[in-house]
Amino acid sequence: MKAIERLRTFREVYGGNQQFLAMYSSIFGGITTDPTAMVIPLDDHMVHRGHGVFDTAAILDGYLYELDQHIDRFLRSAAMAKIKPPFDRENIRSILIQTVSASKCTTGSLRYWLSPGPGDFQLSPAGCPQSSFYAIVIKGQSPPSFKGVKVVTSSVPIKPPQFASVKSVNYLPNALSKMEAEENDAFVGIWLDEDGYIAEGPTMNVAFVSKEKELLMPQFDKILCGCTAKRILTLAQGLVKEGKLKGIRLGNLTVEEGKKAEEMILVGSGILVCPVVQWDDQVIGDGNEGPVAQALYNLVLEDMKSGPATVRVPVPY
Ligand SMILES: Cc1ncc(COP(=O)(O)O)c(C=O)c1O
Repeated sequence: MKAIERLRTFREVYGGNQQFLAMYSSIFGGITTDPTAMVIPLDDHMVHRGHGVFDTAAILDGYLYELDQHIDRFLRSAAMAKIKPPFDRENIRSILIQTVSASKCTTGSLRYWLSPGPGDFQLSPAGCPQSSFYAIVIKGQSPPSFKGVKVVTSSVPIKPPQFASVKSVNYLPNALSKMEAEENDAFVGIWLDEDGYIAEGPTMNVAFVSKEKELLMPQFDKILCGCTAKRILTLAQGLVKEGKLKGIRLGNLTVEEGKKAEEMILVGSGILVCPVVQWDDQVIGDGNEGPVAQALYNLVLEDMKSGPATVRVPVPY
């Protein structure tokens, strides 16, 4: 009892700056809104072996943005990690929506995990009888602002393609890369792949606008296939029609090509569209937030607020 009281005090006093509004856990088979109960077992394979996968979805004005696209990637990640989910896709989707509903959160984010579950502290998950599924709703502010940032080339090695393309809980390289960037007064580190081509950031994809007004993005074979990046590739077709872009191209991009681009843009669920004004010592374009980044930011926001039903799932509160 004392432990639970102290856990409650810990949450109240040292809770951090994020508010956790609801959690689903397959361990207790339900949803709690009590932050003290939002815990997972230490013997869960995800905790002590880093064997787990996760995904997210933004909540805006009572809608989940690109929920189905994120669930598809979540289940692909689970398959790559050889985790058999405890429920089918429909049930997972329904639990996620119910968790957001129970949280009463209309603007924030939803994060969820699959793991082989608890059992023992062995390396093999053979002793974990039942896989586990967790979800949490985090209260959020309005969408991220549009402001130019500085990035640096990451000296922390990128994960090999087999692991970089899975959204697993192994984010040690990502966290170290972020910390290295912060130590250098930068927002994030940019990874290059093993051949020296531009890859991605630690929680985002990267895009460029060439002098010829082409939108360029590294292909997704060695990095995480970002839901935001893919959506932007679709939304950017409108900019091609309007003549604001000449074309869209996915391929290998050299650092030289990237650094002499008119615009460099970070894209991801957490940041939406974030213009880069400096990469290492190189000022990008004229050093200001670029017009294509601004147009893409507006398009994504509009998509989140009034896009088609395929990207907006209403939450029944
Ligand atoms: C390594 C990495 N790359 C790219 C992304 C962008 O993906 P999304 O747009 O689906 O958020 C993320 C998202 O967290 C990520 O962790």
